[in-house]
Amino acid sequence: MGDTTEVISKDRVPVTPPRAEARAAKAVESPPPDPEVVPRPKAAIGLRDVRNNDKVRAYIEKANEQMAVIGYSEHGLRHASLVAAIARNICLELDLDARTAELAAIAGYLHDIGNCIHRIYHPQIGATMAFQLLDEMGMAAPEIGLIIGAIGNHEEPEGVPINAITAAVIIADKSDVHYTRVQNPDPATYDIHDRVNHAVQKSRLLIDPHQKTLTLDLITDVTEATVMEYFEIFVVRMIMCRKAAATLGCKFRLIINGTEL
Ligand SMILES: [Fe+2]
Ligand SMILES: [Fe+2]
Repeated sequence: MGDTTEVISKDRVPVTPPRAEARAAKAVESPPPDPEVVPRPKAAIGLRDVRNNDKVRAYIEKANEQMAVIGYSEHGLRHASLVAAIARNICLELDLDARTAELAAIAGYLHDIGNCIHRIYHPQIGATMAFQLLDEMGMAAPEIGLIIGAIGNHEEPEGVPINAITAAVIIADKSDVHYTRVQNPDPATYDIHDRVNHAVQKSRLLIDPHQKTLTLDLITDVTEATVMEYFEIFVVRMIMCRKAAATLGCKFRLIINGTEL
């Protein structure tokens, strides 16, 4: 008497107590979440999120420091912000949808980030970096694909305006010529790039959605650099802009000191 342990005979199947069975079933239905395997929600990442990302800021700042060391013009947060704004404007003025414009702005902001590793191949390097950064931020893969394609194709001569976002980034990037971009503090050692950039007193991109034209309008100081010197450097860029404009269904025009070239 007093021994309540159930003795299971050979021909009896043990019965799991009902409460324990319910617990087992619940455990199968709802395993404890593993943060390592739970997929992250895909978010509509905007330019604001990218600008506020500490890693993005650090890499762009480092890229610019390294460009200054090798004598290149400004490629930092100012250039990134301006290219982002122009790329977005191009898309919106040409009546592309708001999300396409936002992706163009993000691609514009990140397009030169690869310079923090090396100037050569910086579009391809930068696209790889942008992939990692945007994936970490939770952006959806199809959107990342558009952005890294634009970054990887933004530079002449190998870049190709493969779509509207890429075309907008190319034109925005090439529109940023201005004397404030020159980082070399010694005018006596200016190379032709410095002189041409330094000669540009005013630059603006005019977008005419009705005439379907994208016009780069420059005011330059011809005592610093001649129009021929400008061409020596920029002819390949202008050909790229013409192709990019065509991708957007537009014509690219270049006006220097009031004369269309
Ligand atoms: Fe670049
Ligand atoms: Fe650039």
